[in-house]
Amino acid sequence: MMERRILQEWINAIESAGTIDKIEEIRVAIFGKKGIMNAQFARMKEIPDSEKGAFAKELNIYKEQLNTLLVERKLFLSLAHLEATMKGEALDVTAFSPSSDRGALHPVMETMDRIVEYFTAMNFAVHTGPMVEDDFHNFEALNLPTYHPARDMQDTFYFKDAKLLRTHTSPVQIRTMLSTKPPIRMIAPGSVFRRDYDLTHTPMFHQVEGLVVEAGGSVSFANLKFILEDFLKTMFGEVEVRFRPSFFPFTEPSAEVDISCIFCGGDGCRVCSKTGWLEVLGCGIVDPNVFKAVGYENVSGYAFGLGVERFAMLIHRIGDLRSLFEGDVRLLEQFR
Ligand code: PHE
Repeated sequence: MMERRILQEWINAIESAGTIDKIEEIRVAIFGKKGIMNAQFARMKEIPDSEKGAFAKELNIYKEQLNTLLVERKLFLSLAHLEATMKGEALDVTAFSPSSDRGALHPVMETMDRIVEYFTAMNFAVHTGPMVEDDFHNFEALNLPTYHPARDMQDTFYFKDAKLLRTHTSPVQIRTMLSTKPPIRMIAPGSVFRRDYDLTHTPMFHQVEGLVVEAGGSVSFANLKFILEDFLKTMFGEVEVRFRPSFFPFTEPSAEVDISCIFCGGDGCRVCSKTGWLEVLGCGIVDPNVFKAVGYENVSGYAFGLGVERFAMLIHRIGDLRSLFEGDVRLLEQFR
């Protein structure tokens, strides 16, 4: 009979096997052609017939036992291997890296967001329009007929097919009035384009336009003054606000709005050219010719427009606007 001692040795060998290769080696040693099981079965012929049955039965039990152990150990080892591999390859997505850089909004976009936030809180809807415009929406409907001298103020980029890059966000006023009925209470943030390039002008910049229209004559300059004063104090803190008579073809009367210089407090410095005031936006009561162009009758309204870069430069004390569009990370990092 196969000795129990030998059986126990093989059991120990299986249980201490550390690799799948080792298990395979043991399997061959036990169940292979020249393995111990075959050797034991070969002994059958030496055993008396009366004991053959018991011998075979016991051998089969051993065979079964060893086989089960081999399968179990192999499974255990392959699971352990899998787990180790997964641990080794795992990424800790929550890991904190002290050197990782946080991104930030571009100062112009951040300023734009603040402006839009103010007006949406004041119940203005946000409208947008195309950057490639036509003469009607950009000029004609805004009371700038073909030979109007004020067109020169705009320094337009033209395409061959009479289209143009919009020179202001005011065409969105026209598009909104043409597609909806009063009352209208909207702003239009977006990029605009002019042939301009110096310390404070770039060929592409951003504006936020505002338009309020109501039936009848209820919209007054006082409404306009109230909201712009509140807006400018929200953006710049406790500044003084002054309305200076001006001209825009699409508003009458028109005004340019100044705030007391946030750098010198109004005493006069280099930034405000010793005037104590900084010009920040244009506005006015919508000209009747604009309403005529969109087919509105018996309405009143006000409009305003501002340059976002101008606000960003004042808020962040940026001297050269062009530097903001060069994409130099060293500069942008300062606005995080
Ligand atoms: N569209 C004018 C500009 O670009 C700004 C403006 C808008 C002025 C609305 C008055 C009313 O300069």
